[in-house]
This record gives sequence, C-alpha cells and structure tokens, in this order.
Amino acid sequence: MRKITIAIDGYSSCGKSTLAKALAAKLGYNYVDSGAMYRVVTLYCLRQGIIKDAVFMREEVVKALDRIALSFQYNASTKASDTYLNGENVEKEIRQMEVSKNVSHISVLKEVREMMASIQREMGKDKGVVMDGRDIGTNIFPDAELKVFMTADTDIRTRRRMDELTAKGNTVTFEEVKKNLLSRDYEDSHRTENPLRKADDAVVLDNSDLSREEQLDFVLKLVYDLKLLDQEVKDPKAV
Ligand code: C5P
Repeated sequence: MRKITIAIDGYSSCGKSTLAKALAAKLGYNYVDSGAMYRVVTLYCLRQGIIKDAVFMREEVVKALDRIALSFQYNASTKASDTYLNGENVEKEIRQMEVSKNVSHISVLKEVREMMASIQREMGKDKGVVMDGRDIGTNIFPDAELKVFMTADTDIRTRRRMDELTAKGNTVTFEEVKKNLLSRDYEDSHRTENPLRKADDAVVLDNSDLSREEQLDFVLKLVYDLKLLDQEVKDPKAV
C-alpha cells in the first residue's frame, strides 16, 4: 500500500492535533505531536531550575539534552499516545501554562531543534504518518505529499484552549491564555531557526467556523484528490 506523509502546521491552538489525530485514525496512520517534544524539554528545564520566567543559560539547556529521553506510548483509554520523559508519563504536566509560557523560548535553540528534528524524521521515515507542528512542511518533511496550514480567529482559538485547560482542572483567565497564544505565535514566526510559516505548497485551512467533521472532510478530500492511496482509502466516504 502506498503510504503518504501528511504535515499539519499552523498557529497555536488552531486544533491541529485534534484534526491530525482524527485523520490518522481514519487512515490507519501514526500521529506524531511534535509540539509535545518541545514541551518535554521545557518541562525538564523547568523542573531542574534551568529555566525560570523565560530566563535561562543556553549552555545549560544544551547540556541537559543528553539527560532527556523522550518517548511515546499508546494509551488504550484515551486512544492516543502519551508523552514520556525519562520513563515518566508527563502528558498532563506538559500541557500546563507554565510550560506554555516558556516553550517558545526553548524552541528557538538550534541544538534543541536539531535533536527534535532527528527524532521526528526517524518517526516519519516509513511514511504513513500525520505530524503536526510549526515547521513540519517547511523543514522536517519538505517533500510531504500533503501539507496543510491551519489558522483561526484568535478569540476562537483562545476560547478553545481555555476550555481544554479548564476541563483538565487548570485555573486560567481568557486574557492570560490569549496573551500566551499571541506571544507564542510571534516568537514562533520570528525566530531564526525554522520559523513558523506556510510552506509554498501548503493548503490553508481556516477553521474558525468549521466543525471537527467539516475539517476532517476537507482534508480527506485533499487526500482523495492526490489519487495516491490504495482503493480502500480512495473514496473519502469509504475511509
Ligand atoms: O503545538 P504546541 O502548541 O504544543 O507547541 C508548543 C511549542 O513548541 C510551540 O509554541 C513552538 O514554540 C514549539 N514547536 C516548534 N516546532 C514544532 C512544534 C512546536 O517550534 N514543529
């Protein structure tokens, strides 16, 4: 069976992972959350006191990379992969605001990006993967058969992120979440190393007014239009 690589990039809290997970499940592909990897490095640095309030010494972070073992394990109850740091399940911790506030400062570092890139390329080397992030279509898999660039209205993104965080028991304000999204978007788009930008051949998906089903249908149609897959996944209605 001909498998393809699907890269989903875009702004913070656009619903990239929700769409990527649903798409991977439909196609029987692996889903890789590349942002979780940067979050793991950030969590480790926070725990070790290497970064505090976005202040850190570059050499300390670089040295710490050798002490970080990152892995993913399937969780049957959530039907998704959990993220592990040195054997500990940190899926919940990496989503906390403290990590969100610091992650874009860690992800600018070339050494961090190189380590993440090599893990990501290894995970996607056999194709049959849906990977979401900021530089997947431009840097990690520039030859991906399908690239989607997601965006949505800022207030809608803020509301979605807030709902997610409060459902997990976090106490956050709308303004705090919005400020974090905007500052991460700015940092991620203006850094020197692999900034967030739309790949020239990416299809833009603004999901401000689209339901999850509509988004999935939109991307499945793109997959179908590629005419690269085997018969059983050629018709989106049959996927
Ligand atoms: O996708 P998520 O919001 O979890 O990503 C967290 C952060 O990780 C982003 O704000 C960005 O700084 C960084 N990131 C990145 N490149 C990727 C994925 C995430 O720089 N491919």
